[in-house]
Amino acid sequence: MAFDRSIKIAPSILAADFANFGAECAAVEAQGADWVHVDVMDGHFVPNITFGPATCAAIRPHIKGVMDVHLMIAPVDPYIEAFAQSGADVITAHLEAGPHIHRTLQAIRGAGAKAGLALNPGTGLGDVAHLLDMVDLVCVMTVNPGFGGQKFIDLSAKIRDLRAMIGDRPIHIEIDGGVTPTTAPLVAAAGADVLVAGSAVFKGGSVSDPAPYGANIAAIRAAAEAAQS
Ligand code: DX5
Ligand code: ZN
Repeated sequence: MAFDRSIKIAPSILAADFANFGAECAAVEAQGADWVHVDVMDGHFVPNITFGPATCAAIRPHIKGVMDVHLMIAPVDPYIEAFAQSGADVITAHLEAGPHIHRTLQAIRGAGAKAGLALNPGTGLGDVAHLLDMVDLVCVMTVNPGFGGQKFIDLSAKIRDLRAMIGDRPIHIEIDGGVTPTTAPLVAAAGADVLVAGSAVFKGGSVSDPAPYGANIAAIRAAAEAAQS
């Protein structure tokens, strides 16, 4: 996983056919996805339940590129090893998920994965400054986590401040929630390089008719690249 700041589109399989994850992952990759984003929810940290490390391990062979696992669970630490073993390239934990985020990030890197730090929309950047040397990615949530298809929250000022804090460090800025061809330029202009999109990628397509996935990914990418700062 070489670092660069080019725009990367990461479809969230939260919006895919849950009975057909393997084929859905392969379809979005064939249609131009750079990463595959996997949303793990526990019904405790967020008010929704999805799946766990066994599902991640099952879909791993169907993903050629980066498997980007977003943990919306608390506690996190007891499950890091299992998600690393499932083949996650990036494991992202929430700053709000527990009292010991420093330990959590250490454990993710210790398990051999890239470490991501996610921030809810209401969380400020104050604590992030102390964690920058421990992270490979900061995920700025532009919806409150738990569900796909929510309305985008414009946090451009926060993204710009984060971009300035990061400076030359090899840290991705990922945006998660409500990304569409209309909102992508806002976040790309502010400094984001990884754009998660669920509804906006999967709408109109299916594994038997995947061309709309390609058109949707291309539209988000084109809008973001034209605006990237
Ligand atoms: C929200 C998830 C997101 C979500 C994005 O809790 O982390 O990844 O699936 O979905 P859309 O793109 O539909 O907002
Ligand atoms: Zn996510």
